[in-house]
Amino acid sequence: MIKIKKRKFLLLPGDGIGPEVIAEVKKIINWFNTNKSLDFEIDEDLAGGASYDKHGTPITDEVFYKALECEAVILGAVGGPKWDNLEFSKKPERALLKLRKELKLFANLRPAICFKQLVDASTLKPEIVSGLDIMIVRELTGGIYFGEPRGIKPIDNGERKGINTHTYTTSEIERVAKVAFDLARKRKNKVTSCEKSNVMEAGLLWKEDVQALHDREYKDVELSHMLADNCAMQLLRNPKQFDVIVTDNLFGDMLSDEASMLTGSLGLLPSASLGAKNKDGEMRAMYEPIHGSAPDIAGKGLANPIATILSFAMALRYSLDLDKEADLLEKSVQDVLDKGLRTKDIMSQGTKEVSTSQMGDAIIACLQN
Ligand code: IPM
Ligand code: MG
Repeated sequence: MIKIKKRKFLLLPGDGIGPEVIAEVKKIINWFNTNKSLDFEIDEDLAGGASYDKHGTPITDEVFYKALECEAVILGAVGGPKWDNLEFSKKPERALLKLRKELKLFANLRPAICFKQLVDASTLKPEIVSGLDIMIVRELTGGIYFGEPRGIKPIDNGERKGINTHTYTTSEIERVAKVAFDLARKRKNKVTSCEKSNVMEAGLLWKEDVQALHDREYKDVELSHMLADNCAMQLLRNPKQFDVIVTDNLFGDMLSDEASMLTGSLGLLPSASLGAKNKDGEMRAMYEPIHGSAPDIAGKGLANPIATILSFAMALRYSLDLDKEADLLEKSVQDVLDKGLRTKDIMSQGTKEVSTSQMGDAIIACLQN
């Protein structure tokens, strides 16, 4: 077992706008080192298409071992049209999936918070989204993303057949449901578990196991079950009915994209992917913005670095237990929004457009005060 090095971050900027947004996080880490004497150590390497271009693989063994050894990976984004036609095992996304699977990061926390300054950036009516604060807990290492058998195979009549397998075991369901219940206890104490138990056996098992765990250990938390399609609808109809949503890998992928738009911009939302704590209380983790690599705006200084900066705040909170520092960073983001500074994706009337690096600098100026 490789030992985790305390306070060491591995930065994997990746592709597209990844390097630009990670550059802003680097400035913030340096600010904490200089001003708060936190001794963070950083290393940086290639992942995704950038790694494929140099090494012929989306993530090298060397980088993977660095990821095993650090306290947290901070990832920008991977992928882009340039690599669309590669075979599956070489695609940039494989870097992400390998890190998730092999670091055993089974719990993916995706908050959807509507900042009061940005209520008008949502495509939904202000009264539906103002004050919104949902936490989606997505299972990240199981289900149809990883199930076997999988593949594309020729069949007798000359056609081909695409196969993926959706499976969950009780222990996989319970460990992610525990994360959801524990989070709920620190929030509004409400969990909605989503599956398709009306058509899928694995969905029925999900529902039964979450209920059984609740009845055994979490009776104080309010639990309800919802079919995933209904959840997609309810998120638009009345999103404020939710506190914590727990769901599988595929439904979580889709529902979290949907929830993110309630908040106005994908450019604002962070995520944390967490493993289990070992007996020394150490945990592997990766933090990344929810948005993708946005190749169309890459290199133009248009990207919003806030999602990545807030992902770093989650790293401070969940990996390092530095709640005060995380609060300070989140507060500085709020202050910058209060001042009316906006990257292009969240511009509205009466606000001032700033570039990616100007946004990072403005957040640092607020940290300073
Ligand atoms: C996400 C992304 C990934 C996923 C892709 C890039 C593989 O959409 O993190 O939500 O499907 O999990
Ligand atoms: Mg997704």
